[in-house]
Amino acid sequence: MIYLGLMSGTSVDAIDAVLARFTPSFDILARDSSPIAPDTRAAILALAEGDHDDLDALGTLDRHLGEQFADAANRLIEHSGIPRQQICAIGSHGQTVRHRPELGFTLQIGDPSRIAELTGIRTIADFRRRDVAAGGQGAPLVPAFHRDLFQTTSADRVIVNIGGMANLTSLPAGQPEAATGFDTGPGNVLLDAWMQHCQNRPCDLNGAWGASGQPNETLLAALLDEPFFRQPPPKSTGREMFHLNWLRTKLNGLGSTPAAADVQATLVELTARSIRDSILPLGLARPAVFVCGGGAHNSFLMQRLQALLPHSHVGSTAELGLDPDWVEAAAFAWLAWRTDQNLSGNLPAVTGAQGERVLGAIYPA
Ligand SMILES: Nc1ncnc2c1ncn2[C@@H]1O[C@H](COP(=O)(O)OP(=O)(O)OP(=O)(O)O)[C@@H](O)[C@H]1O
Ligand SMILES: [Mg+2]
Repeated sequence: MIYLGLMSGTSVDAIDAVLARFTPSFDILARDSSPIAPDTRAAILALAEGDHDDLDALGTLDRHLGEQFADAANRLIEHSGIPRQQICAIGSHGQTVRHRPELGFTLQIGDPSRIAELTGIRTIADFRRRDVAAGGQGAPLVPAFHRDLFQTTSADRVIVNIGGMANLTSLPAGQPEAATGFDTGPGNVLLDAWMQHCQNRPCDLNGAWGASGQPNETLLAALLDEPFFRQPPPKSTGREMFHLNWLRTKLNGLGSTPAAADVQATLVELTARSIRDSILPLGLARPAVFVCGGGAHNSFLMQRLQALLPHSHVGSTAELGLDPDWVEAAAFAWLAWRTDQNLSGNLPAVTGAQGERVLGAIYPA
């Protein structure tokens, strides 16, 4: 049972693809990361952060992303050497261009018909909308996969995915029904945006620039003074809320502007603090914390997280046998596998949906 998972997250940094086998045991057979064409990336950001709606832009981007997802899948299949016929289906997350559960919709694009057409492989996509239709947030969806893979009977664990946004999964030892999760707020998105704005580089490699600054307490308090952080779960968020202009508005509200590196240090602190403040109320004594997503490579952010959680071990999911870069794409291979077996993919305790649902729509080969 081999499934191909495709993930393109809120950071819009790359298309991640994995080939995963689920029976008899879970294994990642091959993985690959493909760049997103620069003009496609610009079009995604314009749609995801803009307050205007352009149907032609949406339609063409849907098509181009479908082609790039198919290319990513084909590239992975070719270099893996695994015969195409052995792949049961592709699970494609799609690119979120709008996430508005409060209005009853979430929109991921990257035409699955085109993926099926260009790969010749059955494609399962649009995983979030069924959960939203059932009254849920449609996000996060990865906690069910985290539970399946990482829950144990011996130790409380928290899995934290630090992508563009950050979300966590709480896995109390031996209590599968008590697993829960939610978005904690921004992950890397503001770090990337401020880096791009000030240094014209896409990411603060290993957090080096942030580490050179000092967090500004006044700014940190202003950033944390956002209702989302106080809202009880279920909750999810996206670029609609946390983007460069959100930061600018907060900066404009201060008497004086901190040095640029101090702003970066404050943003690292915001991500780390909002994660810590989400873990403490979970009621787990000394949970081991395992990070996945690109944030696991930001060593300064990882250090801050460990410092804020002195009673927990803070590591990456690599310690649990799954490279932090491939957890999300593997989750969408897993979700496709669940859909194929007519099994639910959401956790109602996480998304707030009325019940478990089989997720996704199937586009035949
Ligand atoms: N070496 C590194 N140092 C600092 N940051 C890094 C490093 N490697 C990756 N990152 C950060 O990780 C981000 C990408 O993470 P990831 O691919 O998990 O996020 P995503 O695609 O937005 O997924 P999600 O759907 O979870 O939001 C990059 O934009 C960058 O900010
Ligand atoms: Mg990514």
